Amino acid sequence: MASTSKRPWDLAERHVTPEQVYRSRRAFIRQLALGGIGALGLGCEENALPLHSVPLGERNERFLSGRPLTPESIASRYNNFYEFSTDKEDVADVAAGFRTRPWTIEVVGEVARPRTYDIDALLQRMPTDERVYRLRCVEAWAMVVPWSGFPLRALLQEAQPTSDARYVRFVSAVDEAQMPGVRAADWYPWPYHEGLRLDEAMNELTFIATGVYGHPLPPQHGAPLRLVVPWKYGFKSAKSLVRIELVRAEPPTFWHRMFPQEYGFTANVDPEVPHPRWSQATERMIDSGAEVPTRLFNGYGEWVSGLY
Ligand code: MTE
Repeated sequence: MASTSKRPWDLAERHVTPEQVYRSRRAFIRQLALGGIGALGLGCEENALPLHSVPLGERNERFLSGRPLTPESIASRYNNFYEFSTDKEDVADVAAGFRTRPWTIEVVGEVARPRTYDIDALLQRMPTDERVYRLRCVEAWAMVVPWSGFPLRALLQEAQPTSDARYVRFVSAVDEAQMPGVRAADWYPWPYHEGLRLDEAMNELTFIATGVYGHPLPPQHGAPLRLVVPWKYGFKSAKSLVRIELVRAEPPTFWHRMFPQEYGFTANVDPEVPHPRWSQATERMIDSGAEVPTRLFNGYGEWVSGLY
């Protein structure tokens, strides 16, 4: 097992380099967006970039992760997205051609202003920034990812939840023609659906990601928009959202319905609550393989401990 005596923020040089590469790539892509040069052959790259104008925002320094970024080459080839494949290393290839335009997202239910948004119109209006968040999967692996997007609460405030709204339900896209994993695993209760309490959804950490590593979100990470809830296990962060519904009662959720003893609704990262089949006391960084101690609320207690 790798040594954990080093503090995570003691960066090794090999961890710094990818960040610099990423920043210059980001500047390049921003220029592309400004110049409107759409067809520069980016599709030849390993991760073809969707060529829509997606605002990326500036990095929000308030949420720095204290750990080195996971290189994109690793994070974008190790994905959970069962609609495409249950093999993490296959998802990027299977999802590569997923069509994300046109795309609409509904915000409905217990709200004064229900609405169906065209994604591009929505993205131009939302306040965008970049958040470097730790992501902790319930399977006990972890990574550190720079997401671009907007706080969910900006969208919810626009919809104006009624006084009966207590929970928020999130629904992912399901399209058998484009998502081979849906038919291959037809015992699952598709579409993928998740939920949060309204106060969790309104927390400033709760984020809708539309970009990652300085470019629009690629399909394997949940294009064109996905939830990111960094203090909860990764399965709460539903991908490729088509519907956000404000509801009165705790909504059933995908993994909780399948395996209620293993996946709770709340699903806060907690080193002291083991999964029935493994400990959650440590987590394995997917790039270095280092085993590091799991932190309560994934280290975000400063923002969220007051919720519990
Ligand atoms: N959303 C959908 N629609 N389908 C999924 O299979 N997997 C979840 C979550 N969101 C999943 C999903 C799980 S288990 C994790 S750990 C994260 O997505 C992984 O996100 P990433 O692949 O972008 O790292």
